[in-house]
Amino acid sequence: MGQSIESYIKHLVRDAIGHTLGGLELQRDRKTYVIANWKMNKTVNETAEFFQYVKSSKNVSVVVCPSAQLLYPAHLFIKQSGQPIGLGGQNVHWADKGAYTGETSASMLKDVGCEYVIIGHSERRQYAGEDDVLVNKKVKQALKTGLTPIICIGETVDEKNSARTEQVLSTQLFGALKDLHSGDIIIAYEPVWAIGTGQSATAELAQQTHAFIRSVLKQIFGGQADSISILYGGSANENNAADYSGMPDIDGVLVGGASLQAHSFEGIINVFAKGDQNS
Ligand code: PGA
Repeated sequence: MGQSIESYIKHLVRDAIGHTLGGLELQRDRKTYVIANWKMNKTVNETAEFFQYVKSSKNVSVVVCPSAQLLYPAHLFIKQSGQPIGLGGQNVHWADKGAYTGETSASMLKDVGCEYVIIGHSERRQYAGEDDVLVNKKVKQALKTGLTPIICIGETVDEKNSARTEQVLSTQLFGALKDLHSGDIIIAYEPVWAIGTGQSATAELAQQTHAFIRSVLKQIFGGQADSISILYGGSANENNAADYSGMPDIDGVLVGGASLQAHSFEGIINVFAKGDQNS
């Protein structure tokens, strides 16, 4: 009898440890993304050509974000290609619908096959006056509609040089995620000085910053923060992708220039696919 109680307790303890480890493993098991931000580039024909050639990978979630007028043709080309590629918008309005000339609503994005939307890209923060309050409204609208927001944050060169990176990122995160309870989001860390300049952040600096971002996400979401993918963006390409993919808190990349050609985009996908197989 004594023995059976002992073995019962042993089982209980083992089960409890198993659950805890299982939970930890689950939390560490973040999705890896390679996401294309085409910005204001490409025609319908060029889009057709891209999807004829690009090959996805089952180890990586691949998403392409074309400009608004290319979304529906892109949706059809992706279907035709049979590749597991997701579609995302580059921007979204915060209202359901109405008199907002030139804007695209979240339900319109869903209607043409989108599952994702980029919100708060630094280019929009710079020339379209997007601030954290607006970003927060857009993030809420995306989540309400069932789109996964890809929330962009990043410091300018002046902010970096005056050692304000962490302060800026923290303000952007608390602003963008105000009143949110769902961690069903993707964060893209895109230092403004690295975007389109060829001066990518070193993988070590990016890792350090991603770890800081995750610590802020923990303050906001608690344990859920471990399941949020944090992508690096800013002159990411085929040559530096391997450095990023080796870092524990870099869960993929958001790619501008190097996503425009099928072969270079595919090169980046392959790097992250290999990294995931090895892990
Ligand atoms: P880049 O752009 O890769 O051309 O630097 C990245 C982005 O702005 O998302």
